[in-house]
Amino acid sequence: MTPHAEADAMIATLQDYDRFIQPYQAGIREISLRMDVLKRNFDTEFSHNPIHYIQTRVKTMESICGKLERKGYEPSLENAKNYLTDIAGIRIICYYPGDVYTVVHALRGMKDLAFPRETDYIQNPKPNGYRSYHMIAVVPIHNFGTDYYPVEIQLRTLTMDTWAGMEHQIRYKTQPEEPDTATAELREYADKLHEIEAHMEDLYHRVPAKNH
Ligand code: GTP
Ligand code: MG
Repeated sequence: MTPHAEADAMIATLQDYDRFIQPYQAGIREISLRMDVLKRNFDTEFSHNPIHYIQTRVKTMESICGKLERKGYEPSLENAKNYLTDIAGIRIICYYPGDVYTVVHALRGMKDLAFPRETDYIQNPKPNGYRSYHMIAVVPIHNFGTDYYPVEIQLRTLTMDTWAGMEHQIRYKTQPEEPDTATAELREYADKLHEIEAHMEDLYHRVPAKNH
């Protein structure tokens, strides 16, 4: 390819990605708005707000291609639409484990959403101790008509998020061919943290509430 043709191809690809990613970004905004409504409702109705903060991201072109290749598909936006459910991602960080289930309950009550996959890694942690509640929500996006897009929702507590952040760093640092020495230790720390947060949650419920 001549430099000009190469630049044109790159611009075309970027424009394709821009167009492709828009409804996924809309899906994230849709769920974020609903979480904001929920948060405000809790602020006015109850003294406890289950949501601490929310993080969102869309998968980059590079990350989409890498994941498709790992799954054995040609890297194309069409394959991404057909085979990936985590192009749009939202992470909801709650205070206590009980709060995660409150938010899950609220989401399940939203009748225009479908949840084709839910995995409770809090009840059933991964062998390394990873805990979170994962849901794929299929969100209606209205344009000239209605289309449906998946959004991966990860719900976890502050403590689970802290552990996952550190575990990610440790795993990233480890050479893949080295024998696995970290998993058992990570599991032990995850379990200890979980025990502590259960005590903190219990304490939260035991301390007397302020009169408003
Ligand atoms: P992926 O192909 O990785 O998306 O796996 P999956 O579709 O089977 O989903 P899974 O529920 O295993 O994990 C999806 C996402 O959860 C990952 O992309 C991470 O963000 C997070 N996650 C899952 N397992 C771990 C873990 O052991 N450690 C950390 N830090 N994050 C994890
Ligand atoms: Mg996934």
